[in-house]
Amino acid sequence: MTTRVEVDLGERSYPIFIGPDVGVEQNLISSTVQSDTIVIISNDIVAPLYLSRIRDQFNSRNCLELILPDGEAHKTLGSFERIMTFMLEHRVDRSATIVALGGGVIGDLAGFAAASYQRGIAFAQIPTTLLAQVDSAVGGKTAVNHPLGKNMIGAFYQPCAVFADTRTLATLPDRELSAGLAEVIKYGLIRDREFLKWIDINLDDLLKRDDDALTFAVQRSCENKAVVVHEDEREQGNRAILNLGHTFGHAIETAQGYGNWLHGEAVGAGTCMALRMSHRLGWLDEVDMKWGIDLLKRANLPTRAPRDMGTDDFMQLMARDKKNIGGKIRLVLLTDIGAAVVTGDYDAGALSATLAEERARS
Ligand code: NAD
Ligand code: GLY
Repeated sequence: MTTRVEVDLGERSYPIFIGPDVGVEQNLISSTVQSDTIVIISNDIVAPLYLSRIRDQFNSRNCLELILPDGEAHKTLGSFERIMTFMLEHRVDRSATIVALGGGVIGDLAGFAAASYQRGIAFAQIPTTLLAQVDSAVGGKTAVNHPLGKNMIGAFYQPCAVFADTRTLATLPDRELSAGLAEVIKYGLIRDREFLKWIDINLDDLLKRDDDALTFAVQRSCENKAVVVHEDEREQGNRAILNLGHTFGHAIETAQGYGNWLHGEAVGAGTCMALRMSHRLGWLDEVDMKWGIDLLKRANLPTRAPRDMGTDDFMQLMARDKKNIGGKIRLVLLTDIGAAVVTGDYDAGALSATLAEERARS
């Protein structure tokens, strides 16, 4: 039942193990992560659920644990400093491995700590949300937020292994599962029409958390992400297609205040906006636009921006996006299902009309 996907990055290559109870059965985590000192970083929601089974695997080693408060509000330099202080106080040396146990917040934070502590120590990811299993734990983006911008301080730093235990998704709140499905649907839209067809057929099983369906969805998502990251590890070009819907989505997240709309919910609504704009430009036909929007709706995601956001709000927030070059807002748009482009070369009127339509209809 365990499947394995390779992220091929030369000497920084690593495996992603996927399946129910992966890593715990056969002590796969402890045999893969071999340091004498292990620093497990988790939060106060995930640790009571899953920490003991990870700790048990490392019982003959020096296993340190740091439990942080839950939430995006804690993905900060303050938490980063807390990790540094904890490791220095425990005299952790460069042979240790940091193990991130949690969703994308813990993974991004622990990964940045691993990248920075004594100029870099090993780390492994045990993602416990669907979003983290299909996206954030893979590809080496690590970061903390700054009051002036999300993920503005960070590093590209790859883990040595990822253990995506789909059984942990059983305890995930429904909203968080749907948020992860936004990223799963994204892979179908940007580069894998066959996968989108599979999602269409299997969406109800995914929502019911069927083990086989979840394992395949995580596997196919990771396979897609692994290819994109292999070709453009540091986002010099095409990796940005992974941000479909994110430029609109980040504007929604920022305007609403982090945590009010989940990242995946904002991406869901943002993806609908990207689909509508792609259609408006004449790049995507109506049937395919509606197919994408319908899938996001069936995954219980918002398909419209919040009612209180106007064109000016969007334009001001999107102007800060990291993809922009020379003041031009660059967007990920579709030319077909399975074919995405990152471009600032579009009719500006189509963007204005797309934003105005949200205000008019939401
Ligand atoms: P999260 O880490 O906040 O987790 C969501 C909630 O679910 C939290 O309350 C968490 O404690 C809880 N939780 C986690 N696992 C659980 C489980 N198995 N059972 C019950 N509850 C559980 O959010 P997320 O959606 O996983 O990640 C969002 C973060 O990821 C954002 O900070 C975003 O910027 C980042 N991100 C990073 C990348 C990347 O490439 N590095 C990609 C996408 C998103
Ligand atoms: N989540 C987008 C990326 O990893 O590039």
